[in-house]
Amino acid sequence: MVAHENLDLGVKVRILAGQPNLRNILGDRILKDVIAVVLAAGKGTRMKSGIPKVLHRILGKSIIVHILDSIKKSGVNKTIVVTGHGRGLLKEALKKAAVKVVTQKELLGSGHALISAKKALQGRSNNVLVVCGDTPLLKSGTLKELIDKHKQSGASATILAGKLKDPSGYGRIARDGRGRIIKIVEEENVKFYEGSKNEINVGTYCFKALDIFEALGKVKRDNKKKEYYLTDAIDILNREGKLIESVEAEDPDEAIGINERADLAEATQVLKKRILEEVMAGGVTVEDPQTTTIYTGVKIGRDTVIHPNTIIESEVEIGEDSSIGPHARLRPDVRIGNRVVIGDFVELVRTRVGDDSRIKHLTYLGDTTVGRHVNIGAGTITANYDGKNKNKTIIEDGASIGVGAMLIAPVRIGKGAVVGAGCVVPKNHNVPKGATVAGVPARALKKEGAA
Ligand code: UD1
Ligand code: CA
Repeated sequence: MVAHENLDLGVKVRILAGQPNLRNILGDRILKDVIAVVLAAGKGTRMKSGIPKVLHRILGKSIIVHILDSIKKSGVNKTIVVTGHGRGLLKEALKKAAVKVVTQKELLGSGHALISAKKALQGRSNNVLVVCGDTPLLKSGTLKELIDKHKQSGASATILAGKLKDPSGYGRIARDGRGRIIKIVEEENVKFYEGSKNEINVGTYCFKALDIFEALGKVKRDNKKKEYYLTDAIDILNREGKLIESVEAEDPDEAIGINERADLAEATQVLKKRILEEVMAGGVTVEDPQTTTIYTGVKIGRDTVIHPNTIIESEVEIGEDSSIGPHARLRPDVRIGNRVVIGDFVELVRTRVGDDSRIKHLTYLGDTTVGRHVNIGAGTITANYDGKNKNKTIIEDGASIGVGAMLIAPVRIGKGAVVGAGCVVPKNHNVPKGATVAGVPARALKKEGAA
């Protein structure tokens, strides 16, 4: 094996080459294994952002977490994330994800990024699934198909191909007269290339680990960006007579890579549509999909109706036969029961609402537990934040809150209690079961006829 240019992989490649028995050491047991490597070290210059590109969020989840979730769902349970630019922020954000984080010390291109994961990979897997950190719309089924084909065909490299109406900006897959992949032509060289120009490289691949690292050792930086392109390894593998296969993504949108803010908006639209379709397929009516946004992971029971201009964010669960909106915003950590009505301009966060309750107009409830059969009058506000802490409000079963009431948390409104219109209930001023209070601040009303 020859050392190539000044790529700092010479040593590692030599180590690999010096271990002719590596295949034997790896053994049959883990032959089937696949470890995923997500390339996420790039700067994302075109995003013009202070945070790493892969941490930008799409419907409540960062780009990288969308990808990690798809990888996990495809059945690959070991993932390495290559970080570089904004490494600290990324590491922090991935704390809860069960992934290994490695560092690409210098950002010398996608090929160099994969080499940065070599040490963490070495001897642990025969196959490596490589995913660019900026393709959040990849489906787990597609990854599965890619891996299966790779294993079945015994190819050195299996490339995920996509067909886009506008392929500009992507690497194109070049084939010979017999349809076999010979190389990937990057955008900057497309003008010199004669063949079909609309079959693109999604940036997701399955490789035989030994073959790809050997080929990467031969990749040069002789391009416009002076980078080690991962895609140049395909040409090398082909020249060495290795088999290169491809799988076409079932949905062309899966190929969308996020390079600038407009891509982020486009991906959001695609994902939004996917989620709404799934929700509707589950028996939910969405009156106006154009103006409805539902984040990933939301659960909604059948026969619930979502009215226009409604936003339902992460970690929200809604029961059956309920009605949400128009113009409602359900923020994270909200659970709503069955036959509940959440009406116009209602905002809820970290809140539970029991069955058969109604919160119909102009209301904000934060950190609140609402029981069953509760009626919350128009314009009710919980003051849950005292400047330091978020405090809880509890409104028990059958209670009734008058219009324009202000509940200053922490506070509890007992079972069947009534809070009058415009009433301010001070903090810790719990309203007993069955009592009626009114005024500012709230005072108990004497029962009629009482002395
Ligand atoms: C890349 C592919 C292109 C493909 C497209 C799909 C190369 C050379 N080209 O182009 O064929 O059509 O993706 O979206 O790979 N990265 C690092 N370290 C680096 C450089 C990049 O980790 O030093 C990561 C980036 O974070 C990104 C990925 O590699 O997730 C791809 O890099 P990017 O610059 O976005 O490549 P593209 O120009 O989109
Ligand atoms: Ca990209």
